[in-house]
Amino acid sequence: MRSFRTLRLSLRFIIPLFIALTILAYAVVPLVGKLTLRWFVRDMDIRSQLIANTLHDPFVDLLRQGNKAKINALLLNVIRDERLLALGFCNEDGKLLYSTPNFPESLTCSSVALRDKETGPVFRLPKGSVHVALYPMDQDRLQQGSLILVHDMSFVERRSADTRKYIVMLFVLIGVVISVITVFVAYLSWRGWMDGVRAILRGEGILQPFKKPAVASEFQPLVGDLRILLRTFDAERRFADDATITWSPDSLRKLLHKQLAGERIIVVSNREPYIHIRGEGEIEVNRPASGLVTAVEPVMRACSGTWIAHGSGTADRETVDRHDRVQVPPEHPEYTLRRIWLTREEENGYYYGFANEGIWPLCHTAHVRPIFRSSDWQQYIAVNQRFADAVAEEAVSDDPVVLVQDYHFALLPKMIRQKLPRATIITFWHIPWPNPESFGICPWHEELLQGMLGSTILGFHTPFHCKNFLATVDRYLETRIEYESSTISRAGKLTMVESYPISIQWPSPWQETQPSVPECRNGVRDSLGLDAGHLVGIGVDRQDYTKGILERFRAVENMLKRHPEMIGHFTFIQIAAPTRSVLEEYAAFENQVRDLADRINQRFSTGSWQPIRLKVEHHDPEVVNRYYRAADVCMVTSLHDGMNLVAKEFVAARDDEQGVLVLSRFTGAAHELHEALIVNPYHIEQTADALYRALTMPDFEQRERMCNMRALVRDFNIYRWAGRMLLDAARIRQREKLAMRINHTS
Ligand code: F6P
Repeated sequence: MRSFRTLRLSLRFIIPLFIALTILAYAVVPLVGKLTLRWFVRDMDIRSQLIANTLHDPFVDLLRQGNKAKINALLLNVIRDERLLALGFCNEDGKLLYSTPNFPESLTCSSVALRDKETGPVFRLPKGSVHVALYPMDQDRLQQGSLILVHDMSFVERRSADTRKYIVMLFVLIGVVISVITVFVAYLSWRGWMDGVRAILRGEGILQPFKKPAVASEFQPLVGDLRILLRTFDAERRFADDATITWSPDSLRKLLHKQLAGERIIVVSNREPYIHIRGEGEIEVNRPASGLVTAVEPVMRACSGTWIAHGSGTADRETVDRHDRVQVPPEHPEYTLRRIWLTREEENGYYYGFANEGIWPLCHTAHVRPIFRSSDWQQYIAVNQRFADAVAEEAVSDDPVVLVQDYHFALLPKMIRQKLPRATIITFWHIPWPNPESFGICPWHEELLQGMLGSTILGFHTPFHCKNFLATVDRYLETRIEYESSTISRAGKLTMVESYPISIQWPSPWQETQPSVPECRNGVRDSLGLDAGHLVGIGVDRQDYTKGILERFRAVENMLKRHPEMIGHFTFIQIAAPTRSVLEEYAAFENQVRDLADRINQRFSTGSWQPIRLKVEHHDPEVVNRYYRAADVCMVTSLHDGMNLVAKEFVAARDDEQGVLVLSRFTGAAHELHEALIVNPYHIEQTADALYRALTMPDFEQRERMCNMRALVRDFNIYRWAGRMLLDAARIRQREKLAMRINHTS
């Protein structure tokens, strides 16, 4: 195929070349004919002159003697020369006195004399051309007549014809040689060019301008231009794609249909979106307190497909079919949940151990030491492999779109890639990414990075996390990194590292059914025995040491200390979902939270009023939503957080455009929700000031801030988060398909 294309290309040059050579040959051949004839005539002239000079004296002597016999004998003797055809002698009166037998009849003394002067020495006779020369024979300066020498010219014609033939052959030969060289050069160039294009398509050369160029030097200027073009084009297109679409479940579905040929999506996460629990007598369905589930579940409902997750509920096994699948949401099924069963040993090693005692503290700068055990690492590998096997089982094509979620599955992308080389793997890392030095603490940091680079797209919440990741890869792996376009090339495979700030469903799923804000306010206050005008603050978190719950309580304490007028008029409600309680660090943290709340409550409580209401139990999202709507202020004080969706959920819940968000600057959300009161949670007084300011903020300021934040959450909702990743995936798939086509056709 490649040779055929080369030949076709070369013909575009060869055909004009042959036409040009033919025209040239037509012009050159007659010229050469004339030239060679002129040379031969000159040779004949010289020859004739020589013969005439040699004959002169003996001939004149014989003439003087009048010895006709001897004259004839002399002439006959001379014409033995094979080229000399005939000799003749004309006297002064123009009469042919002597001639050899084959002297051409059509030649006369007068015609020869005349022709010689006017048109040159060549005569065309019926039997062929002859060269005729006339030389005077004189004695004692008295001319006796002229000797006529007739040379056969047929050999000249023969030679001219030969010359013409050789010239034509020479032209043909030149044409053939040039053609062969052209085809060869075209083949090499085409191959080089194609390799160049292929390298460019792979992103090599474009991606890493600082290291050894992957494409030939002649492509470097092109690569430079392409680099600029691609960047501009990509940025513009992504912006245009993003901005022009109103992101909703419907637009996401259309995108999948149009850009990804209706691919069914496979999601992999540790936490499942619906947990079946055996309650008293009957099975209950729980929605876990998980940012990941909050974000990804609406996407799955929009896209359908299969979600593979750990079946951790006490009644999970009872609710699946024989393939471990169950259709969810239970009340209105829209996609398949495929459950993976883990042994206690696997769960301890992979989930509690490596993921939550190792990677979790490693990636969060919350001053808890990570713990790495070889046995946990082995379980982490084994469980990742089990999920990779499940992905291969669930895939209905050899190029599925797989969305890998979070730090539980750093090895999974590579494992999936080994089973399904053509899969489009989008990995999203829901937690922060630390600097290279911190990440290097993990004994298996290289393996984790290699695993993640099996992804087609690797997503983080913020550009800062992307930058840290690129720097980490640069530090520990041999790769080619293009910082400007945030791409990593390794072993011929490209991973795009991009920030996709995660978000929530918009409009809120309870938009239609939720009670009004006054109802929620009254309901919550009534349940706590507070009067209608009582100020309420809310915190909603898993009970995790990264969430800054202790710092939050201290800020409440500090605010009450500095603003005693608030005592008895403000209550802070902390919803704390129990999490990872089997781990020592978490168990200790639960105690610290409880102890601190007790201490503060003891310090300030009056009568039945307590400043902090700690609710350590699972709350359904609808219930949490009511608390958001009831509160005057929401406090998000994480010490380090990838995004923190509580901040966005609070904003989405407040369709009354009231309420103030106090937000830690160490969350991803702080990069988007600029109208929140941004605090450093380690700075207790500052956070206390922000809390007080929130509680005393005028309505119009609350409205202005809330309106802006709501507009942002509306426009950058969860469908846009998924849509941007899927659009990028679709573009990469198209580029890979194009590269494959080029590979096939060349
Ligand atoms: O913050 C990262 C994250 O994966 C969240 O998406 C999720 O809320 C949590 O961590 C996981 O919690 P769990 O260990 O209970 O699944």
